[in-house]
Amino acid sequence: MTDSPPSPTQIKPDDQRPEHPDFWCKRFGEGFTPWDAGKVPDDFAAFVARHPEPLNTLIPGCGSAWEAAHLSEKGWPVTALDFSPAAIERAQAVLANVAVDLVCDDFFKWQPPTPPALIYERAFLCALPRKLWDDWGRRVATLLPSGGLLAGFFFICDQAKGPPFGILPEQLDALLRPNFERIEDKQVSDSIPVFAGRERWQIWQRR
Ligand SMILES: C[S@@+](CC[C@H](N)C(=O)[O-])C[C@H]1O[C@@H](n2cnc3c(N)ncnc32)[C@H](O)[C@@H]1O
Repeated sequence: MTDSPPSPTQIKPDDQRPEHPDFWCKRFGEGFTPWDAGKVPDDFAAFVARHPEPLNTLIPGCGSAWEAAHLSEKGWPVTALDFSPAAIERAQAVLANVAVDLVCDDFFKWQPPTPPALIYERAFLCALPRKLWDDWGRRVATLLPSGGLLAGFFFICDQAKGPPFGILPEQLDALLRPNFERIEDKQVSDSIPVFAGRERWQIWQRR
């Protein structure tokens, strides 16, 4: 038996569906952004500090884009991407005069002019409904060339209701192991309350 498609009354409005930009625009518009660290997380700052050579970096679902400002100040080429115009407006305010390629587009459709060497992950995968996770895994693998890095913060837990949607270690492995090798994995010590105790810093290298 196949599931029947949802009736119009079962479909939620766009601002209640995290796969839609309106969901995020509503929250940025109301100033309700509990995921926003308001700073560059320590593990990412340390990662940047120990890489003397700048990496062409993509930040999907950049939100306020604190990390983009940090990278640009260090001379790294960075594209900060978000499909919510309100998020882009917020990022523009944070970035002020910092030179960052700020793009309003959908991560699953956007085509990079040059391939990134690093994709930085923070609160993007956990913002995506589970039905998009396989697409995310394929997309990061397609965007990164061999040797490229996917580095950042993963919300590792069984929290089904979200966002943030928790991911179990075996679910993350299933998404990434076919194309990546995990080369770093550690508990995060400066998490903000929504992620505290359930956030890991990981680096995955594209085979
Ligand atoms: C939870 S917020 C995280 C923002 C930022 N990474 C941070 O750490 O503060 C998730 C962001 O992803 C964006 N987003 C969700 N789906 C997207 C998609 N398909 N393409 C681009 N951006 C997306 C949302 O607009 C939102 O700004």
